[in-house]
Amino acid sequence: MTGPRRILTVFGTRPEAIKLFPLVHALRADDRFVSRVCVSGQHRGMLDQVLEISGVVPDHDLDLMQPDQSLDELTARLLTGLGRVMDAEQPDWVVVQGDTATAMAGAMAAYYRKIPVCHVEAGLRSGNIYQPWPEEVNRKIIGNIAALHCAPTETAQAALLAENVDPGIVHVTGNTVIDALQWITARIEKEPRLAAGLADLEKRFAHKRIIGVTCHRRENFGEGMQAIADAIRRLAARPEVAVIFPVHLNPNVRKVMDEQLAGVEDVAMIEPLDYPHFARLIGISDLMLTDSGGVQEEAPALGKPVLVMRDTTERPEGVEAGTAMLVGTNADRIVAEANRLLDDHDAYLAMARAHNPFGDGHSAARICDLLCQHS
Ligand code: UD1
Ligand code: UDP
Repeated sequence: MTGPRRILTVFGTRPEAIKLFPLVHALRADDRFVSRVCVSGQHRGMLDQVLEISGVVPDHDLDLMQPDQSLDELTARLLTGLGRVMDAEQPDWVVVQGDTATAMAGAMAAYYRKIPVCHVEAGLRSGNIYQPWPEEVNRKIIGNIAALHCAPTETAQAALLAENVDPGIVHVTGNTVIDALQWITARIEKEPRLAAGLADLEKRFAHKRIIGVTCHRRENFGEGMQAIADAIRRLAARPEVAVIFPVHLNPNVRKVMDEQLAGVEDVAMIEPLDYPHFARLIGISDLMLTDSGGVQEEAPALGKPVLVMRDTTERPEGVEAGTAMLVGTNADRIVAEANRLLDDHDAYLAMARAHNPFGDGHSAARICDLLCQHS
């Protein structure tokens, strides 16, 4: 190919933005590329938090979030909106990340135009199409379309090869989340005020052991969310424990948590944190309780034990390394495993080792090189 490659990077939610800003930075700084960015606005507030801290200014913003959006309506809006942007931009590559509706629709819209797709964080599989739902199928669809699969780990690479994907287009790049975490950590070191907003809570809970919590999975709506709330209440009843819980903006999460946890002593339910403050929260927490994908990667990288409130994970590396444990969404089990870590110092230390199976912080650079090699 002569001349710079036109790369259209497409994303719409908080975790995609976090995992793609390092690549957007790298593309922008590299004269082998013309970098264009389209955000769907699948998330609004939580996406904007990441755009602001990372300095990414989108060339297109579809602004298509609606309150409590359904999967089919969201997907329909995404397909038509993203297709129009691709027609206008005529990119050489479309880059998508992970497994959201935006990523899946972005890959589909590119495929309909025969534009090659680069899939960042390719090859994650839980083996169960309903856990996580609908993400497992989203990433399988993207896996069928991609012309370049950037697998974060060898396990992810092996999953793609087992599905008979051409080995020549599958590469282990590491996960760009580690690039993002290193970038934000360096920024906080230079400008501590970026993560200083938790100071009041840190003072209030100075003599407590902190459990950091996040949850938002669709398959946990209803019973699962109730059980998670119950577990949080029981853990916070321990006199030496406090819970800091930035609550996801999905109304199906907020409603349950507001009903179950408002006013509970030593449970601080707060608004979603921007990325520097969330990195700080992991740092001050004794352990993380989460159903998030990204937090399962970040907590081990920062040496914090993470109890994963799911029955399966497509990120077995943290569990294999001993820094993550699957605890499901049964309240008794969540409480029992958290209590074990709080009471048994050796069990705690065994999990609290900084370990990083997910990347070395150079994934974005590798992906840039691959985009050139495969053009
Ligand atoms: C989405 C992704 C999920 C990802 C998660 C990360 C899909 C199908 N789901 O789930 O894979 O793990 O993001 O957080 O792609 N909302 C706001 N403001 C925001 C964000 C969400 O108000 O900034 C509310 C809106 O009412 C919105 C609802 O949350 O309709 C659901 O958002 P949606 O993106 O459809 O699903 P998530 O559960 O956030
Ligand atoms: N995160 C954040 N603020 C918060 C909670 C999470 O910045 O209040 C970050 C977190 O560091 C991780 C990402 O959001 O990088 C995870 O997003 P989420 O849990 O919404 O989605 P998932 O990773 O499960 O797709």
